[in-house]
Amino acid sequence: MKILIVNGVNLNMTGKREAVYGTETLEEINARLDKFAKSRGAQIEFFQSNSEGEIVDRLQRGGFDGLVINAGAYTHYSYAIADALYSVKTKKIEVHLSNILAREEFRQKSVLARNCDGCIAGLGADVYFLAVEYLVGTVNK
Ligand code: DQA
Repeated sequence: MKILIVNGVNLNMTGKREAVYGTETLEEINARLDKFAKSRGAQIEFFQSNSEGEIVDRLQRGGFDGLVINAGAYTHYSYAIADALYSVKTKKIEVHLSNILAREEFRQKSVLARNCDGCIAGLGADVYFLAVEYLVGTVNK
């Protein structure tokens, strides 16, 4: 089983930006996720881009059995990513390191949510692990 994890705009700065996103870098999180997925018999492709169009291109290419997406600020206004997600036929989990529902008003709205199967937010890097665990447990059935 292949899981695609998409990180959007500014997520490459994880660990080096606001404290709300923690101190672990994206590379460190990804290294842990890689091991975790292998222990569950899954393979992860990591994709990060600050460009909306590149994220859309990657989603359109397909080639994965489950998707985890943290689109960063694009979450709140990218109808282009929302439309691309609509056409993804695998399970799709939206994740956020921070609890977007408890933050500024503009972050409390996700335009991607209606095109995802679920959302996990506010648990730091654990959100990625929980999403992978969910996908491994459901998509294989
Ligand atoms: C984020 C929340 C977004 O509002 C923000 O723009 C980010 C990160 C999160 O993981 O908590 O860049 O998606």
